[in-house]
Amino acid sequence: MSDVSGRRVAVIGTGYVGLTTGACLASLGHHVVCADADSQKVQRLRRAEVDILEPGLPDLVRDTAAGGHLEFTQDTAAAVADAEVVFLCLPTPMGAGGAADLAAVETVAGEIRTVLPGGSVVVNKSTVPVGTARRVAELLGRPDVTVVSNPEFLREGRAVHDFLHPDRIVIGAEKEADREAAQRVADLYGTLDAPVVLTDAASAELTKYAANFFLAMKLSFANNLATLCEHFGADIGDVTDGIGHDPRIGPAFLRPGPGWGGSCLPKDTHALLTICRQAGVDFPLLRATIETNVEHQHRLVERVAAEHGSADGSLRGVTLALLGLTFKAGTSDLRDSPALAIARLLKERGAELLGHDPALRGTTRPDLSDLLTLVDDPLDAAAGADACVVLTEWPQLRDLDWEAVAGRLATPTVHDFRNLLDPVRLERAGLRWHGVGRTPALAPRG
Ligand SMILES: NC(=O)c1ccc[n+]([C@@H]2O[C@H](COP(=O)([O-])OP(=O)(O)OC[C@H]3O[C@@H](n4cnc5c(N)ncnc54)[C@H](O)[C@@H]3O)[C@@H](O)[C@H]2O)c1
Repeated sequence: MSDVSGRRVAVIGTGYVGLTTGACLASLGHHVVCADADSQKVQRLRRAEVDILEPGLPDLVRDTAAGGHLEFTQDTAAAVADAEVVFLCLPTPMGAGGAADLAAVETVAGEIRTVLPGGSVVVNKSTVPVGTARRVAELLGRPDVTVVSNPEFLREGRAVHDFLHPDRIVIGAEKEADREAAQRVADLYGTLDAPVVLTDAASAELTKYAANFFLAMKLSFANNLATLCEHFGADIGDVTDGIGHDPRIGPAFLRPGPGWGGSCLPKDTHALLTICRQAGVDFPLLRATIETNVEHQHRLVERVAAEHGSADGSLRGVTLALLGLTFKAGTSDLRDSPALAIARLLKERGAELLGHDPALRGTTRPDLSDLLTLVDDPLDAAAGADACVVLTEWPQLRDLDWEAVAGRLATPTVHDFRNLLDPVRLERAGLRWHGVGRTPALAPRG
């Protein structure tokens, strides 16, 4: 890649993807103006206050802003007025019937259509259905502006690292004539050492959905395999270790857990299902991936009910300490967290829930108050509870004082839905440990 720095870039939407994109492109020497409709967020960002948990991001925002490379505004039109490249990093949540809701993308296209400089490039960085690059081009109605697709693959909790060390950069242009604009976008990434896949817009758009579908499929596979392991007394950790060494399979995303979730996998798999339906293409593997996830979560809850509930499966009168609520460790993001999906199923059966998460310490979450009582100290969650349920793989939870937990629980039982804990250590602490897909021989007996 050639080192083309010093471009004028606008980034619309300053969430996980937008703020990371803006700060990282600024760190590569571009002049970036970030716009967001949330005026309070803009005020905080102007003070370099970052309200998401992303290692390195606050420093990068502060340093690039101080160096004059990064600015924030609430005025989208003003942000793009002088831009050579405009990144749309807007939310595309699950809409009616599972389709991606493109309202924010369409609103912004309407706001910028008359102010975009001639010759500029608009980049869809949001995860969007096939055909959205064309749709945005139609909404803009500007033949002198090119729209390309450049999906983002960063992981929350590693956003800055992933943006600056991407596995690949995928850029899709609608027409052959737009390839030069796509190359200009590729050049923005300057000296980053990554393969660039220059393709058509539909392929780029589909690549992102295919990637998230594949990851979800691996997790559903691992969770189903865990059930099979339980049946035969096999150990899921050993089985996935055994297959993960095969480079055709790989070790990642094969750990069983409380089901997959987060801000991307659920909405993206459902959006892809809608795309398939609209295209008249049946993709049974995709349906099975989603259904397996739901069934797996019900199975885990059934297991808790069988141990602690009454004969009819009710958990009325049972108190559970939920440890870990974010969708994975290393983030404060609760969007579509599998921990909360499990919590809702437990609550439906009548359980009283106390919840603790290291990333939510000292915060108040009115949005959780109907579901659970949030406590700062995991030992307070355990006090008097009938069992602990470990739902997020925070290292802090692995290193808890489990003797102290055992002393506080009414029944010394831990359901470890992440296989995070050392069963031998828990046994020594006097706790019964139940993992997912691990041989009963490894689980301590009370
Ligand atoms: N979060 C991830 O890990 C991740 C990874 C890859 C791709 N994506 C995709 O990137 C897109 C953005 O995701 P995110 O997690 O950064 O979302 P987010 O919700 O964290 O951020 C979106 C931002 O856009 C702003 N916004 C909404 N409507 C606006 C408007 N009309 N004008 C200006 N600003 C507006 C919001 O205030 C918010 O700050 C989604 O399509 C998502 O699927 C996300």
